[in-house]
Amino acid sequence: MNVEKGYVEAPIPAGIDLKEEILKLKKEKNAVIMAHFYQRDEIQELADYIGDSLALAQLAQKVEAPVIVLCGVHFMGETAKILCPEKTVIVPDLNAGCSLSDSCPAPEFEAFIKEHPGHTVISYANTSAAVKALTDVIVTSGNAKQIVDSFPEDEKLIFGPDRNLGNYINSITGREMVVWDGYCEVHEKFSIEKIIELKQQYPGAKVLVHPECPKPIRLIADKIGSTKALLDFAVQDDCKQFIVATESGILYEMKRRCPEKEFIPAPPDDAGCACNECAYMKLITLEKLYNSLKYLAPAIEVDEETRVKAVRPIERMLDISTKLGLIK
Ligand code: 13P
Ligand code: SF4
Repeated sequence: MNVEKGYVEAPIPAGIDLKEEILKLKKEKNAVIMAHFYQRDEIQELADYIGDSLALAQLAQKVEAPVIVLCGVHFMGETAKILCPEKTVIVPDLNAGCSLSDSCPAPEFEAFIKEHPGHTVISYANTSAAVKALTDVIVTSGNAKQIVDSFPEDEKLIFGPDRNLGNYINSITGREMVVWDGYCEVHEKFSIEKIIELKQQYPGAKVLVHPECPKPIRLIADKIGSTKALLDFAVQDDCKQFIVATESGILYEMKRRCPEKEFIPAPPDDAGCACNECAYMKLITLEKLYNSLKYLAPAIEVDEETRVKAVRPIERMLDISTKLGLIK
């Protein structure tokens, strides 16, 4: 078995029903498949659990199976491994990175922290284990506001790495957190002009926006929230049409939960494509999932010294989120 490229390179037997075989292998290996909302439709269809970053972190801790196949990006697998070092955590293609996480290398972030003595460090989940190890508390877009609110008003805070989420949280909490200048390539490239055109085409539609989007996009939102918050809003709101400004994989679950409603993906500002996709998320395919289950590889590894430092801010996030009733 060869994993040099970051995924198992092995031939897939001809004529097999990949979905059926994946489900068989899952049972055989006593594994659970978890998928983020941005995964390909066929991966979400096979997953035991789908969720946002917060739910996936919490689920990793809760499930009993010894093997977790995390269909998402590398930091999500790393978070699961940090929380559950005794489990085998597999991400079917380790090349599934995250531009936002890459915008915050640990040595630079450490220097930034040193430039701001006396600050509590809040980091978004979209970071490497090394950055988490430098952090006091992790947040996701599903709990960032509430966790920031839980600190005394005069506490000095650093927020990294997403400038859009950080500035958004500053604007809704009245804080003046020092914000690292990172961003997600996918959410940064939504086109305000094209969303306005869509609004003219669908005058009754509501606009759903992930907080990783820049301010002009957030300003025309009817709802700003994590992938799960946007999904819940779409399910509960009476509106029948939604323009969705986040990675287009979320449309799978939105359509599944609300077959009678219409979801229109907000387009990026480049190319002719109507949807905005995260190329990293889309690296996970049925073939790679099949081989990863068959060979139980490639597994995520985190060195123990980093893990011990990184687990504290993640557990702190989960504790605060549980106390605030954000997760059960
Ligand atoms: P959520 O926490 O909303 O699932 O978002 C994760 C992510 O990577 C957004 O780009
Ligand atoms: Fe990272 Fe952006 Fe992809 Fe989310 S959509 S995983 S933030 S690159």
